[in-house]
Amino acid sequence: MPSKKILLTGPTGFIGKRLLYKLDELGYHVRCLVRPSETLNLKIPLTHEPEIVYGDLLDPDSLTEALEGMDTAYYLVHSMGGRSIRQTLAFEEKDRNAATNFLNAADAAGLSRIIYLGGLGDITDNLSHHLASRQEVGKILQSGQVKTTILRAAVIVGAGGAAFEIVRYLVERLPVLLCPRWVYTESQPIAIGNVLDYLAGCLETPETEGKSLDIGGPQILSYADLMRMYARVRGLSRTVLGVPLVPFKLSAYWVSLITPVPAGVALPLAEGLRNKAICRENKIRDLIPIPLISMETAICNALAEEADGPGKLLSHQACFLPDDLK
Ligand SMILES: NC(=O)c1ccc[n+]([C@@H]2O[C@H](COP(=O)([O-])OP(=O)(O)OC[C@H]3O[C@@H](n4cnc5c(N)ncnc54)[C@H](OP(=O)(O)O)[C@@H]3O)[C@@H](O)[C@H]2O)c1
Repeated sequence: MPSKKILLTGPTGFIGKRLLYKLDELGYHVRCLVRPSETLNLKIPLTHEPEIVYGDLLDPDSLTEALEGMDTAYYLVHSMGGRSIRQTLAFEEKDRNAATNFLNAADAAGLSRIIYLGGLGDITDNLSHHLASRQEVGKILQSGQVKTTILRAAVIVGAGGAAFEIVRYLVERLPVLLCPRWVYTESQPIAIGNVLDYLAGCLETPETEGKSLDIGGPQILSYADLMRMYARVRGLSRTVLGVPLVPFKLSAYWVSLITPVPAGVALPLAEGLRNKAICRENKIRDLIPIPLISMETAICNALAEEADGPGKLLSHQACFLPDDLK
């Protein structure tokens, strides 16, 4: 059994819960930081029972116990997620405070590493609030004694991920998709399976320590391409048409009407799509060489998961599937 002691933040989330299963599969014993208001529901049992500590990144006192005796921490947390646009507006300040609290506690505990999954995009690109905030969190986490690896990703394709579920619901429900122009912005989506390979791979690859590394799938695609691809994979006939001058807020309300993703989550994601999100370098491919999953396969995998019993790995917050499908 590997000897590293790992703290996982965000274990109830879309990515965190899947990473917990992956680390368990690899033999790691994991401590999970869960907010006091939440429970970690694991529908499939793990081989090694995880240790649960209750805490909140916005409550610095609750982090001391969580970090005690740990070697590495995964930082898989963000504060978007209010049901309404008003509720989600404070996410930047919350994320700044959460990252600062976590870094201070990590330095005080003598943690060796943080592995953070953030977003692609550079501050010089007139970034959306969401993507700028993800960059800011990375900068904060790299500003202490602890060595922080930043992995930067665009849309992650997997069942239960907010961006993917928007594609799924829009295409499933609408024969003609009238979309704002930003659906044509180029991006480099990545399959959840590859994200997990990279996150876990960093643990045993010391060359990734302290680095910022872009991760992306094998294809450059716009959101419109992804919608068309989803329709092809499902055998649906769909038309995607661009409409000029649609305000982001209007798009977010529209998405919340057609899909189960609330406007408070859809707005920052929609704003983020105005920025190109393509890997600027591919160093990760030499450091952690893995076969890249095509987006067609990633979509099939997400659909297969649904056939197997959707929602098995989905978090309370990230699960946008209706109850009867969970
Ligand atoms: N999904 C994507 O397509 C995508 C793409 C690129 C990058 N990423 C990055 O991947 C990371 C994880 O995203 P995700 O999609 O897994 O998000 P998610 O499903 O919404 O999960 C967010 C997690 O953060 C936890 N959290 C929020 N505030 C917290 C706090 N104050 N204290 C402790 N825990 C808190 C939530 O816990 P509760 O259950 O208690 O709410 C939840 O476990 C983020 O850094 C995100 O930027 C995601």
